[in-house]
Amino acid sequence: MSVSLDDFPREFVWGTATAAYQIEGAVDEDGRGPSIWDTFAATDGAISDGATGELADDHYHRYDDDVQLMAGLGLKAYRFSISWPRIQPDGTGAANPAGVDFYRRLATSLLERGITPYATLYHWDLPEALEARGGWLARETADRFAEYARVTVEALGDLVTNWITLNEPWCSAFLGYASGHHAPGKRLGSTASHAAHHLLLAHGGAVEAIRAVSPAARVGITLNLYSVKAASDSAADLDAARRIDGLQNRLFLDPLLLGSYPADVLADLGETDWFASNPASDPVRIAAPLDFLGVNYYSRHTVRAGDSAEPDSANPGSESVEFVDTGAPRTLMDWPIHPEGMLDVLEQAHERQPDLPLFITENGSAYEDVVLGGTVDDEARRDYLEKHVAACAAAVRRGLPLAGYFAWSLMDNFEWAWGYSRRFGLVHVDYETQERTVKKSGRWYSEFLTQKG
Ligand code: FCB
Repeated sequence: MSVSLDDFPREFVWGTATAAYQIEGAVDEDGRGPSIWDTFAATDGAISDGATGELADDHYHRYDDDVQLMAGLGLKAYRFSISWPRIQPDGTGAANPAGVDFYRRLATSLLERGITPYATLYHWDLPEALEARGGWLARETADRFAEYARVTVEALGDLVTNWITLNEPWCSAFLGYASGHHAPGKRLGSTASHAAHHLLLAHGGAVEAIRAVSPAARVGITLNLYSVKAASDSAADLDAARRIDGLQNRLFLDPLLLGSYPADVLADLGETDWFASNPASDPVRIAAPLDFLGVNYYSRHTVRAGDSAEPDSANPGSESVEFVDTGAPRTLMDWPIHPEGMLDVLEQAHERQPDLPLFITENGSAYEDVVLGGTVDDEARRDYLEKHVAACAAAVRRGLPLAGYFAWSLMDNFEWAWGYSRRFGLVHVDYETQERTVKKSGRWYSEFLTQKG
C-alpha cells in the first residue's frame, strides 16, 4: 500500500458521509413535513430514473444496523445530515419531538460505538412551506434557518458538538435556481446569486445561534470546491478559468474567509448593484469566525472560452465557457479524476485563513457495480479512494492544516437528479431487499484504518 495511517497525525479524523434525503426514506413518518426534494422528485422528468427518496436506504428504520456496520469497518466519525422538515415540518417554530428523537437515537448509537457525529444542518431539503414563501430567494429564509439551527442545537447539543451549517451552497443556489437540475428546479439565470447570498447569510446567522446555545460547539460550513485550469495560456481561456473559479470557489470562499465578495464575479454576474443594495452589516454576519472549513472535492474543471451561450447554464453570466475533455480518466458521473487537484483547493482555502483547520467532508466516485459471490469488485473506486487518501497525506506533508477525511459515501443512495442510477457507496445496497454488502473499496478503507502501524 502506497499510503499508510502513519502518514497522518494520530488525531486525524476518518469517516464516511451521507445525507438525510439520500438515505433515510420514511418521508411521511413521525410528523416530517414535505421538502423541496419530495416535490421535485415527484415532478415528471426531474429525476433520470423517475425515482424518489420515499424509501431510499430505509435508514430511518435501519440506522442502528448501519451504525453497527460502520463500527465493524473501524470508522471513527460519521457525517450525516439532519432533515430540516423532520425538526420543523413547516420550517418554523418549536422542534417536533419525534424528529428530534430519531437524531438523538442515531447520535447515541454512534457515541456508544465510539463514532464521533458530524451533523450537517442543511443538505438541500428545504421545508416546502418555506419554498412557497420564496425559498432561498427570500431573505427571510436566512432567519428561519438561524432559528432552525438554534432549536436543533438546543435539542441535540449534548450529543453532537461538530456542526456543519450548509452543504455546498453553490449547488443549492446555482443548480436549484439557475440550471434547474436540482430542487426547486428554477431557471432564473444570475438571480440565482441572490439565493447564494441568502444561503451565506443563513450560515452566518446559524453560526451565531449555535455558539449562543452551545459554547462547546465546533462549527463549520462545507463548500464544493473545484480545481480550475485554463485549456491554454490564451487570454480568453485564462479569463474563462477566472470566471469558473470565481463562480465556483471565490464567490463562497471570499465572503466566508475574507469578509467580502470578489468584485469581478459580481460584475460577471451583472449583480454588482443588487449586492451593494444589501445591509452593510451582511458581510460581517457571513464572515463569522469558523472552527473549520469542510471541502467536498471530486474533480477538476478544464475550461476554455467558447462562443455560444449554453441555455439555462449553472454558470450565469459566464454561459459561453466550455468544459474541455483533456482525456483524463473519468468516473461514471463523467467527472475527470485528478487527485492532485485536491491540493489546489486546500491551498486556495488555506491562503485565505492560514490557521483554519480543513476537512475533506466528501470525496468519492460512482461506478457500475456488480454483486458477484457476495462482494463487489470495485477496483476503480478502491483506486480512486487510495489515490485521494494519498493526496490527503501529501497535503499533511506540505503542512496544510488538514484534520480529517470523510469518504462519500458510506453506502449507495439516492443520487439526486440521477436517482438510484449512480452508486457512490463503499457499501452496496440492494434496493429490493435493502441488503448491505461491503464492497472491495469498503474493505480497503477498513483495512487501511485498522492496520497496525
Ligand atoms: C455532492 C453532494 C452529495 C453527493 C455527491 C456525489 O455534491 O453533496 O450529496 O450527491 O455530490
